[in-house]
Amino acid sequence: MAKGPYSDKVMDHFMNPRNMGEIEDANAIGEVGNPACGDVMKLYMKINDEGVVEDVKFKTFGCGAAIASSSMATELIKGRKVEEVLELTNEAIVEALDGLPPAKIHCSVMAEEAIEAALKDYYSRMGKDPKIVDEMK
Ligand code: FES
Ligand code: FES
Repeated sequence: MAKGPYSDKVMDHFMNPRNMGEIEDANAIGEVGNPACGDVMKLYMKINDEGVVEDVKFKTFGCGAAIASSSMATELIKGRKVEEVLELTNEAIVEALDGLPPAKIHCSVMAEEAIEAALKDYYSRMGKDPKIVDEMK
């Protein structure tokens, strides 16, 4: 492949995003905006009684790096337990994508923040203090 600023993996996830869309009966929804560029990412999760992410989907209005980061994030959290999902950092997403150009790192941060926001929503729906998410980080 031609050597552009993006890895083959980024291009693949940008051209063929995984898990794009929404989940109607999601019980964890997180929406975040990126102040650096005004883009928006919305993440939906369906978490079962065992605390496992059964399904996850995203909608992102943003650049290619943001779409690739969202897509990779969904692959990394699907089938995982909430506790493991909480440990997912934007660095891990970038690593799984074989890197992002430095100017595009903030796009992957949006994915980490969307996950956090969705888990806060999940805990508040369960009647728990959403701050638990910050404490578990
Ligand atoms: Fe808006 Fe990257 S600056 S998509
Ligand atoms: Fe806006 Fe990437 S999300 S520049």
